[in-house]
Amino acid sequence: MPVDMRMLKSEFMSRVKCHLRSLKAEVIQPDESVKLAAQTTIERQNKMAILKIVKYPEAVLERAGDAVTEFDDDLKQLVSDMFETMYNAPGVGLAAPQVGVSKQVFVMDCSGGKDPQQKIAMINPKVLHTEGEYTAEEGCLSFPGIFFDVKRPMRAVVRAQDVNGKEFEVDGLELTARCMLHEKDHLDGVLFLQRTSPLKREMAKRRIRKLIKQGEW
Ligand code: NI
Repeated sequence: MPVDMRMLKSEFMSRVKCHLRSLKAEVIQPDESVKLAAQTTIERQNKMAILKIVKYPEAVLERAGDAVTEFDDDLKQLVSDMFETMYNAPGVGLAAPQVGVSKQVFVMDCSGGKDPQQKIAMINPKVLHTEGEYTAEEGCLSFPGIFFDVKRPMRAVVRAQDVNGKEFEVDGLELTARCMLHEKDHLDGVLFLQRTSPLKREMAKRRIRKLIKQGEW
């Protein structure tokens, strides 16, 4: 073992030296702000953050999000932070407006972290097809403690882009369809409150106003 370690160390050192030489050739004395920006980028790449989830009636929740045009590191950071925030909540879906970012981005995982194939980020999603309908209870991270029966399609086919801009489609049934449509609604500024009866909507709004007054919302 000690021999291996020594070999590893000497190989590592020669690589570092080689890398430093190439850096010297490429870089002409960066100023302090450039160095700082580079440092911040490196730190951000290694970190995920739990973002603050905004609650109804924050205005951003009822505004349609802008289309994503740049598939850059900032987008990747936003998506990984949104996954972290969603799992932490915990929830099965989270849309960018719910973390105060008015963009066409949502994340979902109907397996609650158990099945990696269900961990999906959808950028600029479009609903291509829906069929059937069924009613089930829904909640929303922007409405903690509030649940409604909501009627939605049984199946939904949604086309979106991934964090690299590559198009893909999800053909989802039941919870997957429900989740995609609930999150897509968020990106259009539509809340699940609007998917229930006017009476239930008014009752929920009254309850929320009361909770706000009591400082419990
Ligand atoms: Ni929601």
